[in-house]
Amino acid sequence: MIHLSSDVGDLFEQTFAYAQKQVRKLIEKHPGFYPMYTQNGRWKHEGQTWTHWCDGFFPGMMWMFYKRTDRESPEGKYWLDHAMRYTKSLEPRKADPEVHDLGFLFFSTYYRWHRLMPDPSLRDVMIEAGKTLSQRFQEKGQYLRSFVAHNSIFIDIMMNVGIVFYAARETGDRRLRDIAMRHSLTTRRVLVRGDGSTAHEGIFDTDTGEFLRQTTHQGYRGDSCWSRGLAWALYGFTTAYEYGRDPRFLETAQSCADFYITHSPADGIPPWDFNAPSENRTLLDTSAGAICAAGLLRLCRLVPDSLKGHLYWSTAVRILRSLCEKHVIKNDPKWEGILRGGVYHVHKGLGVDESVAWGEYFFCEALERVLWP
Ligand code: GLY
Repeated sequence: MIHLSSDVGDLFEQTFAYAQKQVRKLIEKHPGFYPMYTQNGRWKHEGQTWTHWCDGFFPGMMWMFYKRTDRESPEGKYWLDHAMRYTKSLEPRKADPEVHDLGFLFFSTYYRWHRLMPDPSLRDVMIEAGKTLSQRFQEKGQYLRSFVAHNSIFIDIMMNVGIVFYAARETGDRRLRDIAMRHSLTTRRVLVRGDGSTAHEGIFDTDTGEFLRQTTHQGYRGDSCWSRGLAWALYGFTTAYEYGRDPRFLETAQSCADFYITHSPADGIPPWDFNAPSENRTLLDTSAGAICAAGLLRLCRLVPDSLKGHLYWSTAVRILRSLCEKHVIKNDPKWEGILRGGVYHVHKGLGVDESVAWGEYFFCEALERVLWP
């Protein structure tokens, strides 16, 4: 990989420092609060959650900050203390049967903690969470069902299936690995299209296992490409390849990346849906850009073609530069988030053109990855 020019490196470092400032302010203002999306720039409000999937992102950023701070300094102790406190409260979620999001919750928290301070009890939390998620597997149809219904698969689950792969690897349980492999292959078959675009949701006949149709909740429509879903697929199939080593996963991650690159505007920040109608096509989703940048920085190391690897790395840098230059507004003291222009759920009117917890998290992850490869 080529190196960042010093002006871009400085911009990224300043933004990473700004992120720490914003996270610290929120800890002080609302101790113990886990943000999801802002309303007019404020994290704490009475807006709906739809589903309960975001609590790992805030402590996940604290772990990143701890890793990049002198561990013995007061600041290092501050991040460690808060990261541990906000992470420990999530442990009961390892047995949560209501959501398909246990990868989001535990890769951001217990996984990072265990990487920094290896401890079998932390690993056991991850294993337990992977086993819980595996219980969503539907033999008829061969998929992990989404939180909405037994007949539903979501593209987002590709970001979570990694925890089943993890549990399989750590325990040597072949059944868990088989579930993770089969879910990933089914997602590839039913939600990723020939051109590398993705559908948000797929519906099965639960009696026969027959795949019936593509549909959506958060995208424009069933045959469109919701940009965050595409970003989840890009990142998720990269993770599936890292664990499963099946070349089909690498090929799928690349085809999603190539769709993203060829369909995004020059600055790399996509509309909320690549097929959004002209009247709301100007609405962006910066969180999709952040996730994509983070995923490309993992994918670029795995592809055998070094030119392609370089394209992925430089696209990630371009996205991050656009996010820092256009979507991080540092001189508005009322805006509590870091990155503006994210979207949670357009149709429900939740977090539209706001800061969103996963956007902040993957933005920081991508900045960290590119600054300290
Ligand atoms: N439910 C995951 C997302 O909003 O992307």
